[in-house]
Amino acid sequence: MTQNLQNILSLLEQSEALSIEKKNQVKDWIKEIDKYIVTTEFKLDRTEKVKRTTVILLEETIEELDLKRKAIEETNVTLQKTLEDLKAAQSQLIQSEKMASLGELTAGIAHEIQNPLNFVNNFSEVSNELIAELKVESLKVESERDKGLEDELLNDLAQNLTKINHHGKRASDIVKGMLEHSRKSTGKKEPTDINALCDEYLRLSYHGLKAKDNDFNATFETYFDPNLPKIDIIPQDIGRVILNLITNAFYAVSERSKKGEAGYEPTISITTKRVDSPLGSGGQRGKGDNIQISISDSGSGIPDAIKDKIFQPFFTTKPTGKGTGLGLSLSYDIVKAHGGELKVETNKREGCEFIITLPYQTKQNDGPTL
Ligand SMILES: Nc1ncnc2c1ncn2[C@@H]1O[C@H](COP(=O)(O)OP(=O)(O)O)[C@@H](O)[C@H]1O
Ligand SMILES: [Mg+2]
Repeated sequence: MTQNLQNILSLLEQSEALSIEKKNQVKDWIKEIDKYIVTTEFKLDRTEKVKRTTVILLEETIEELDLKRKAIEETNVTLQKTLEDLKAAQSQLIQSEKMASLGELTAGIAHEIQNPLNFVNNFSEVSNELIAELKVESLKVESERDKGLEDELLNDLAQNLTKINHHGKRASDIVKGMLEHSRKSTGKKEPTDINALCDEYLRLSYHGLKAKDNDFNATFETYFDPNLPKIDIIPQDIGRVILNLITNAFYAVSERSKKGEAGYEPTISITTKRVDSPLGSGGQRGKGDNIQISISDSGSGIPDAIKDKIFQPFFTTKPTGKGTGLGLSLSYDIVKAHGGELKVETNKREGCEFIITLPYQTKQNDGPTL
């Protein structure tokens, strides 16, 4: 009992103003107060202890959290590194996809170059014969020389040289095109004849695929709109899109023809056309004016279940070594960067149709540099 309470108690004993009963009652109150004080002290002590343990627990939690934060920071660094590695791996894959399509083109290119080279060889051989004839004529005495024949020979020679020059240039254009394909895109848009671009890539990929698989045969049909205007595109990039789509189409028809269905005709066709909006005020061509390139095949089509996935990077149904799954995703990005659209229509019996829509007028420099 506290000193104060004990003092009150002894004062109470000495007091004569209160009766014995009253004194006992006050004593009971004092005892109750004392009890209350004792329990309160006990509770306070307990609270203090709880407080101390809580502080210790809190400190431990803070330490643990700190460790976790450090671990997360380390994971972040690793993740960042992994992301960078992945990016590097992806650009390497894009490059190898480019190289793979270059491989596909090589046989086609060889075939294309052979043709002008044959001309160059033939015309130069013929020219040598003409020179020999001319020499014979020039060695004759003046009175026997046939001036008319000499002129004719010289004319033929001049014509042959023009032809040799023409075919030589054609060969260097083909080589230039090949180099352009393997180089990083310049990212520069130039007015391009879409029909010529489609035709070039169709022929190159056809000969390329034929060189790989000699038994393979497919009919290819072109329906080019002769009134197609030149449009501003990055030719190497759109060329790659066309090449990817043609390569997929050839693959699809050659797989189907391996099944040996009676009367099956592997066919690939390319169609180009204008999709014009009505002429704007003053007869100006406007925003809604597009050209479309459609590449369709009589392959087995694309099942509904995977239709949504084909444009995803790395999605492929082809065996390892035959597909990277990058062709369509890259093509999609290139067309989008030109302000256009790439869509697919497919039907199990009639194969597939991929449609590229490109605007006549595209903003300057909005192309990708892949
Ligand atoms: N013309 C087509 N006919 C049928 N399936 C196609 C055609 N084009 C693309 N596909 C499907 O889309 C997938 C992805 O094509 P792509 O991105 O070019 O990658 P890859 O050709 O390397 O597989 C192909 O694996 C195939 O399943
Ligand atoms: Mg492909």
